[in-house]
Amino acid sequence: MAIRFGGQTTRRRPWAIGLVAIILGLSGARAPRSMLNNGLALTPPMGWNSWNHFGCNVSESLIRETADSIASSGMRDAGYKYVVIDDCWQVSRGADGVIVADPTRFPHGIRALADYVHSKGLKFGIYTDAGTKTCQGRPGTYGHEEQDARTYADWHVDYVKEDWCNATGLDAPTQYAKFRDALAKVGRPIVLSICEWGHNQPWDWAPSTGNLWRTTEDIEDKWPSMLTNLDISAQHSKIAHPGAWNDPDMLEVGNGGMSDTEYRAHFSMWAIMAAPLIAGNDVRTMSTATRDILTNPEVIAVDQDSLGAQGVIVWEPTPDLQVWSKKMRDGSIAVAMLNRSTVPAKLAANFWRAGLHVGSAQVRDLWQRADLGTFKNEYATTVPAHGVVMVRVTPAT
Ligand code: GLA
Repeated sequence: MAIRFGGQTTRRRPWAIGLVAIILGLSGARAPRSMLNNGLALTPPMGWNSWNHFGCNVSESLIRETADSIASSGMRDAGYKYVVIDDCWQVSRGADGVIVADPTRFPHGIRALADYVHSKGLKFGIYTDAGTKTCQGRPGTYGHEEQDARTYADWHVDYVKEDWCNATGLDAPTQYAKFRDALAKVGRPIVLSICEWGHNQPWDWAPSTGNLWRTTEDIEDKWPSMLTNLDISAQHSKIAHPGAWNDPDMLEVGNGGMSDTEYRAHFSMWAIMAAPLIAGNDVRTMSTATRDILTNPEVIAVDQDSLGAQGVIVWEPTPDLQVWSKKMRDGSIAVAMLNRSTVPAKLAANFWRAGLHVGSAQVRDLWQRADLGTFKNEYATTVPAHGVVMVRVTPAT
């Protein structure tokens, strides 16, 4: 048996493997990792998706108005790029097998809509399903993978989310690889978003198949649901890297089921996890508070850091109080102090425990957008109920 290291093939010898492992470990270098070689999503994808707020109530006018608002609200400039129509845009297949968009809801067709979204400086995404039908009973891509990939390329699609309903008896790695290969054939750069809810251990195969993969069931606009998805996705932190991201599902920020404090926590934790930031609210009518959460540049910078590390829990003095840390490219760390309880609580982030081996460090609060000063060994503060304090900690010079 042979192993490949950086393109070179070597004979397998147990002592040699041990030696390489030690050298990699000591140097902090990482062994080559599998990734979908499409050069996309080198930072977690950012955008908007219709499902969380609109369900099946999608239309050409909704998508156009949403693209307008993403551009005018500052969301586009904050990094939100992909405008994605989820389920229910499709109604049938033509005699030639080509998928047909709902002619009433999309009277000018999908390509014209994609071109409109592009004219706003944004990218355009669409939804399909690996099985025979989507979750809402619309035509799935099973048996039409290459044809659909060609159609999407013709329509100037930049992102495809592929769901997993009505796929009984099918093998997820095989079906998703089929669609990945179909996309590769059409020669257009298209992000592939895998959505099988973590049912088929995607962390084992999805990094070389898609750019992001769901780790969880659907999020609900409720605090406990958000925490459930956080906890599940956190278990797979080692797998995430540029081009390949764990997806704990789309954002609920602004949908009304949580307080703004809770939404700030939701957004902070998605950023600490290097999760895709796909807004799911009605951006045409969002409040200033919602817009300010979604566009906080310093929290987004944590999510979008080019190192691509997913943050982890480093301290959990009680099950309700957690300190999370994410390594950043510039040698700083981002820290989220999360209070899951219903009362305010004191919490301390110890720098060593969080992975920063220094005596003192500068601390900046990412929601207050203010430098708090230089601290020795730790930063301690009171964290609101169902809230976070999020800081960036930089070794003092
Ligand atoms: C599944 C997915 C959701 C959404 C719906 C659409 O439940 O997980 O994100 O795409 O299907 O029907």
